Amino acid sequence: MASDAMDKIASLCKRRGFVFQSSEIYGGINACWDYGPAGVELKRNVKDLWWRALTQLRDDIEGLDSAILMHPKVWHASGHVESFTDPMVDCRMCKARFRADQLDEAVCPTTGRPVLPQCAPHLTEPRAFNLMFKTFMGPVEEASAVVYLRPETAQGIYVNFQNVLGPSRQKVPFGIAQIGKAFRNEISPGNFIFRSREFEQMEMQFFVPPGDASSWFDYWKGQRMEWYREIGIDPGRLRFHEHGPDELAHYAKQAVDIEYEFPFGWKELEGIHNRSDFDLRRHIEHSGKDLSYFDQESNQHFVPHIIETSAGADRTVLTLLVEAYAEEEERTVLRFHPKVAPVKVAVFPLVKRDGMPERARAITTDLRRRFRVFYDEKGAVGRRYRRQDEIGTPFCVTVDSQTLIDDTVTVRERDSMAQTRVSSEGLVAYFRDRLA
Ligand code: GAP
Repeated sequence: MASDAMDKIASLCKRRGFVFQSSEIYGGINACWDYGPAGVELKRNVKDLWWRALTQLRDDIEGLDSAILMHPKVWHASGHVESFTDPMVDCRMCKARFRADQLDEAVCPTTGRPVLPQCAPHLTEPRAFNLMFKTFMGPVEEASAVVYLRPETAQGIYVNFQNVLGPSRQKVPFGIAQIGKAFRNEISPGNFIFRSREFEQMEMQFFVPPGDASSWFDYWKGQRMEWYREIGIDPGRLRFHEHGPDELAHYAKQAVDIEYEFPFGWKELEGIHNRSDFDLRRHIEHSGKDLSYFDQESNQHFVPHIIETSAGADRTVLTLLVEAYAEEEERTVLRFHPKVAPVKVAVFPLVKRDGMPERARAITTDLRRRFRVFYDEKGAVGRRYRRQDEIGTPFCVTVDSQTLIDDTVTVRERDSMAQTRVSSEGLVAYFRDRLA
């Protein structure tokens, strides 16, 4: 059932231009994905909504866009060179590799059957596999030229703590937000865009006085859960998962995941971590620079503790697709919340004559100033509706013979398929109220 649902979503994504396998004409490259015209809009909406909630609507969070390639010492200081590993086992028979902690879900690529129990006798002992991609900076490929593709965006924020603090004139508590690519050489990627080797993170690091870390952790748990509800995710399919001591990442003192009920089970959508003063202290030790803070009000010097909210842009896109996907008797429809829909309004002339295309074009131009609008005059109008249903367009506007008489148009609503006549002059106001 799970793979059936995921196959249908992946196939719709390919057909309607959301997501394609990277380098498909060469047979594809595993666990890397390209976003097509509809997908790039959907993902942009996710990132814009996150950015707006975390920066524009607050005065205590600043933005940052740091480089992907960083000084290699960053990754020694952060603990990633030493500890960012997953336990890996090899199959002595077919040479396949699996994550030792995910054997319950693993499928043998040779037999297509679950790895457990059939392959158990052939598996090696687990060994630690570092997930960071390495490359070389400069023309010589030697050990001293090794640099890493960042496995999280967070470190770019920590090393810029003082750089942002000064010009922004913020005071602790305050946060720094960043959206950007991250790379992990995952042993078992899969479930479409859920776990890939190149992905985008939306991370925010909130710097707080040491004694306040617990209360800020609770605050951010609430804020982040609310954000998923606001972008149209059913609260019944969201839950918190508190990490036990054996689940904590090497940097975390306290961690909770926001999980979503995907077709393949409850899985992590976002991690919220109390990273204590681990990161800043490690960077102080390794760089020799002072990353402490002087609080004028309390007259105290301290190394701020960090509460991190770390969300995956691609996982949020997958969540929205799963949430929106519906099959009805006559159609497949993506019931996106209007805020995230890639296209907000489609405009059609009923037929390609009698001045209808010209009127429809003029309406399109007018609406485009405010919304993302798609114009389509090809094929039967029923087909055009179905195409828009499959990319989740909330409204379609049809210009017909009545429009030429009284300048009203038909507005068809995606979910109910109800049709209403609206004066074309009032369309901007009509959509402004309904697309917010
Ligand atoms: N800075 C903390 C950090 O990176 P994480 O729990 O490892 O924490 C945070 O990752 C989020 O990044 C995850 O909740 C997920 O949404 C996303 N993510 C992590 N690995 C991913 C992968 N291989 N593919 C897609 N998204 C991933």
